[in-house]
Amino acid sequence: MFLVHLRPDLVTPGSLAGTTAVVIDVLRATTTISAALANGADAILPCLDLDQARQRAEQISPRPLLGGERQGLKIDGFDLGNSPSEYGPDVVAGRQIVFTTTNGTRAMSAAADARRVLLGAFVNFSALLDVLQEDSDPIHLICAGTDGEITQEDVLLAGALSAELVERGRQPANDAALTAIQAWQAIPGENLVRALEESRGGKNLLKLDLQEDIDSAAEQDRWPAVGQLDSCAMSIQMLGNRPAIADEENSS
Ligand code: MLT
Repeated sequence: MFLVHLRPDLVTPGSLAGTTAVVIDVLRATTTISAALANGADAILPCLDLDQARQRAEQISPRPLLGGERQGLKIDGFDLGNSPSEYGPDVVAGRQIVFTTTNGTRAMSAAADARRVLLGAFVNFSALLDVLQEDSDPIHLICAGTDGEITQEDVLLAGALSAELVERGRQPANDAALTAIQAWQAIPGENLVRALEESRGGKNLLKLDLQEDIDSAAEQDRWPAVGQLDSCAMSIQMLGNRPAIADEENSS
């Protein structure tokens, strides 16, 4: 069985023990992390706030990259922002990345009680479903939302995953799962970019002139790497073998 949570705070406290959680922040944290892992990053080290991120980076040798955003923008003194295109193989291969974003890293922390925490995006859609197929635990799809509000981009991915899970014999166990499936089925597949543009997260990115990030986030299976959070170490590593990235264009 599986459930959808439209915001992290809607997860019933204590209900994740013994389950698999999938954290969803399509625009852009889980998309960017999938890109970084597919492009060879060793590990992503999520941090909730800037001080924690800077301190953690100082304690690691060789020095990790610092990446993430506040109000969508690269943080002062950080190496990278939160655009997938910044996480190409030339930059991230073999590196650890200390990473903090406004909503995505908070949602990861909210999911940390689950037996297993995976990261979901359209860019790793099929790879994630392959992992879930082998997992018999209850699944919780947790939408990160934006600034405490439900966001359409995350609900659409939760709906797309839910529809596939139903196809594969899993039962939806809450109404939010049914709502997410209906939201997903209401948009024709070719209109995903438009639906992301109209979403709360999408509008924020358009204001920052980051259409390219919306386009990347809508590319199903572009970066087929599934990140798994080690909640004790607060470290995200890629499950399985690194995918072959077909050409230079795929890597940026
Ligand atoms: C977040 O985690 O809040 C988002 O990824 C924000 C963003 O688009 O940069």
